Amino acid sequence: MSLIEAQKRVLSGMRPTGRLHLGHYHGVLKNWVRLQHEYDCMFFVADWHALTTHYEDPQVIEENVWQMVIDWLAAGVNPGSATLFIQSRVPEHAELHLLLSMITPLSWVERVPTYKDLMAKSNDRDLATYGFLGYPVLQGADILIHQAGNVPVGADQVPHVEMTREIARRFNHIYGKDPGFAELAEDAIKKLGRKNAKMYRDLRRDFLENGNREALEKAQAIISEQQNVSLGDRDRLFGYLEGGGKVILPEPKALLTEVSIMPGLDGQKMSKTYGNTISLREEPDSVEKKIKTMTTDPARVKRTDPGDPDKCPVFTLHKIYSDEETKAWVRQGCTSAGIGCIDCKKPLIEKVLEEQQPMRERAIQYEENPDLVKTIVAEGCEKARTNARATLEEVRSAMGLDYR
Ligand code: TRP
Ligand code: SF4
Repeated sequence: MSLIEAQKRVLSGMRPTGRLHLGHYHGVLKNWVRLQHEYDCMFFVADWHALTTHYEDPQVIEENVWQMVIDWLAAGVNPGSATLFIQSRVPEHAELHLLLSMITPLSWVERVPTYKDLMAKSNDRDLATYGFLGYPVLQGADILIHQAGNVPVGADQVPHVEMTREIARRFNHIYGKDPGFAELAEDAIKKLGRKNAKMYRDLRRDFLENGNREALEKAQAIISEQQNVSLGDRDRLFGYLEGGGKVILPEPKALLTEVSIMPGLDGQKMSKTYGNTISLREEPDSVEKKIKTMTTDPARVKRTDPGDPDKCPVFTLHKIYSDEETKAWVRQGCTSAGIGCIDCKKPLIEKVLEEQQPMRERAIQYEENPDLVKTIVAEGCEKARTNARATLEEVRSAMGLDYR
């Protein structure tokens, strides 16, 4: 696969450790649904990643795998546009993880912030395991085996994508040099024709000497426009641009998701850990009950007390769900004690139910027919394996493992 194709690919995974809730919808899923129209998207269930922390309760994972895929489909992820698969059903991820672990310095994994944080925080689980230490390397393998140029993640995951870039760079640096690489690359440049060859050399120099990324992108564009360049030459020309050898594993970048922080029912961030969630396909009655009893501005004790919307998690929800007019009505009514909290929550309940209605409807056919979900995933796994095998073959051969 070429670098240009890598730019078109998006890959992301989710750990099946619980039911998805509105926080996931607004933070991640809505974004996936948007991306599937613009990119070649691959979304997968990261069940091995879930095992790194939940190795003692695997039934949690099993329960949530299928429900999570149904949640994705309900949210509007379209199996016709995106490839959906399960990590453990594409064992190539594990082989690449092993191979990458050979070249990943221990200090890189030890300094990952999520690792240090979780080790410090998790007193209920023993995370001093080999598997958990390797978490970001496995994530790197997920990304690199599919040669994904773009990885939509929240801010907490950015260090993992950064480390993946470093691993890819190190891999290409160590294994990307076939003998005589520079000469072959120079020959390939000559085949570009006088004008393009000069441009390529100037742009390459500008990038290598001045770090000018625009020059790099321009030169990449020139290469991808060439019709008569062989695949081998194309790879060499791309690799030579960045100084070293052939690019076997393209470096991904994080597509940082702008997340609206979804408040939970108690005003803390919505999270399974706090037990303050509204799940994606929650029953309407339950949604209503939950919002009705949701925490409000603690200073507003009686109906006649004026409140401050800026201190109220209900108003934070209004900011996500309501139009300007409704928000102005809340502000006015709350600060003057003109409306009660139940009045305030009413339009919000309607909006949440309205948002969930199509999701509940889309989910029905999958809930009633689990085989349909299994077929979608089986097809996705097949496609993902074909992809993964191609990368792995290159990696094995680069690392000298292609004995015959
Ligand atoms: N670590 C990610 C999370 O906890 C899940 C994940 C696993 C992932 N592999 C990935 C995300 C590859 C993006 C790309 O959210
Ligand atoms: Fe919160 Fe609305 Fe009650 Fe004001 S009226 S405290 S914004 S729930």
